[in-house]
Amino acid sequence: MPAGKTRTNPIATTRKSASAKVAKASGVASTAPKIPAWNGSPIKTKAWKALDQHAKAARKFELRALFAKDARRGTKLTAEALGIRLDYSKNVLDSATMKLLFALAKERNVVAKRAAMFKGEKINMMEERAVLHVALRAPRGSVIKVDGKDVVADVHAVLDRMGAFAKQIRARKWLGFTGKPIKNIVNIGIGGSDLGPVMAYEALKSFSDRALTMRFVSNVDGNDFYEATQDLNPEETLFVVSSKTFTTLETMTNAKTARDWSLATLKDPKSVARHFVAVSTNAEKVTEFGIDTANMFGFWDWVGGRYSMDSAIGLSTMIAVGPQHFAEMLAGFHDMDEHFRTTPQEHNLPMILALVGIWNRNFREHATVAVLPYCHYLHRFSAYLQQLEMESNGKQTQLDGNPVAWDTCPAIWGEPGTNGQHAFYQMIHQGTSPVPCDFILFEKPLHDLGAHQDMLTANVLAQTEALAFGKTRSEVLAEGVPSWLAPHKTFPGNRPTNLMLCAALSPRALGRLIALYEHKVFVQGAIWNVNSFDQWGVELGKVLANRIIPEVSATAAPKLAHDSSTNAAIGHYRKSRGRAN
Ligand code: F6P
Repeated sequence: MPAGKTRTNPIATTRKSASAKVAKASGVASTAPKIPAWNGSPIKTKAWKALDQHAKAARKFELRALFAKDARRGTKLTAEALGIRLDYSKNVLDSATMKLLFALAKERNVVAKRAAMFKGEKINMMEERAVLHVALRAPRGSVIKVDGKDVVADVHAVLDRMGAFAKQIRARKWLGFTGKPIKNIVNIGIGGSDLGPVMAYEALKSFSDRALTMRFVSNVDGNDFYEATQDLNPEETLFVVSSKTFTTLETMTNAKTARDWSLATLKDPKSVARHFVAVSTNAEKVTEFGIDTANMFGFWDWVGGRYSMDSAIGLSTMIAVGPQHFAEMLAGFHDMDEHFRTTPQEHNLPMILALVGIWNRNFREHATVAVLPYCHYLHRFSAYLQQLEMESNGKQTQLDGNPVAWDTCPAIWGEPGTNGQHAFYQMIHQGTSPVPCDFILFEKPLHDLGAHQDMLTANVLAQTEALAFGKTRSEVLAEGVPSWLAPHKTFPGNRPTNLMLCAALSPRALGRLIALYEHKVFVQGAIWNVNSFDQWGVELGKVLANRIIPEVSATAAPKLAHDSSTNAAIGHYRKSRGRAN
């Protein structure tokens, strides 16, 4: 969307009653929040206007020419910290662009907002909540206050309880109801209560206890639960029911199915205490479900779901990799928190990644970003980032309630390299819409098998080179390609990429990488003037689904009052299930 064009909010105008119900059901500020100092339209800043002008000139930028002009470009437009070397030189920008982007961050008060977050101010204004995932990895003994109360001591108290529990499981000392040791762990959760744990488990599999079977159930589609449990013995299986709210339809449905599945073998309701633990902020709902709060690991409303994988939501990760590796991962998060908090913006990795993203999104109008880890262990990383980025910044409303008049979060997608090369890279190289890519490589392999790592490395470097510089028609013809075929074998190049070379995959390196993206999202949200910490956009579908559930499942024909398409689909489904219409 060209900056400056306003849009109306169709939900606000057509769905008033649904929204009112939602406001009641979710955490929401009781009165209109005080507009903070950093509220403001980015497009009214001097830097944005200058960037707009600069972007017109930048239409002529060609990476071939930019690299030819400056032999040091490849090292100049690179930042390195904490074992991550971020090369952003293959984006279609120059030093003047970066200067203007840094000026934009200054004008948008990113630093003041960052300080407010680290201080525990309620920057999630619509829900009147602090945003303190940084406290989840603050070292023992440090102090971060919410409403005048230190939260770090509470964080470590929960980590200690998680550690003691994880150790019992890992030592096979946590026995199931029939006396057999637990060796299967099934995490039930969705969104932030699933994507982080499953991503971290997959990423750190090399550090995990391979004799434990780890499974993750998220989808309300019963096939997910069935496949996760069909080969497990209930006597040896523990369910970790993970839900911040403990009200989420998918999770509660799967948890009830799990209880039935478990009790079908174990018979006695007392067995629940040995086979179910809960991770939640909602003790009341946990008790209501039948899990003793002695078996509950808590966290707090200042932890957003998509920022919660290093809270008690990481219990399954901790069981898999052990408390020590979990602590190392937290230390990695904290390293990046400190880097983000203290490093001048010109060397600040999250700041640079965010600002280059703003350039690609708002000034070069790229609608998607592909995240392409050249590390198979990170095969769920892009899925994790989809929630982190899109649920945080996929917004159309500014902090003060006005509609945005600029584009916000691009669509995030991706698969691990080199698999993507043989699937969708064709479009990235020759499609009509350039796709900015983040390439991520760990230089030292965890398992050094023959020439694999060198091939992997050569491939990622080749991709960034090909995307940046392409292949001209004359180069193609010079290879003897007939002229009729030359257009098909020509590569436009000038396609933007970031390359992150990281030392080696470890729990600490993983923590650093995730926190890099968390803070990138923070900076972009600050610039776009949206609240990165609420998610009202997921509510309408939930409300409507709750209305449709009885309509599809009732025995008697329901009275339908939807649009003709939805009514017909309900009728079609009911017929296929042999229900009256
Ligand atoms: O529906 C979106 C959402 O609220 C996410 O923000 C959250 O991570 C997910 O659902 C799961 O929520 P809960 O942990 O409360 O079950």
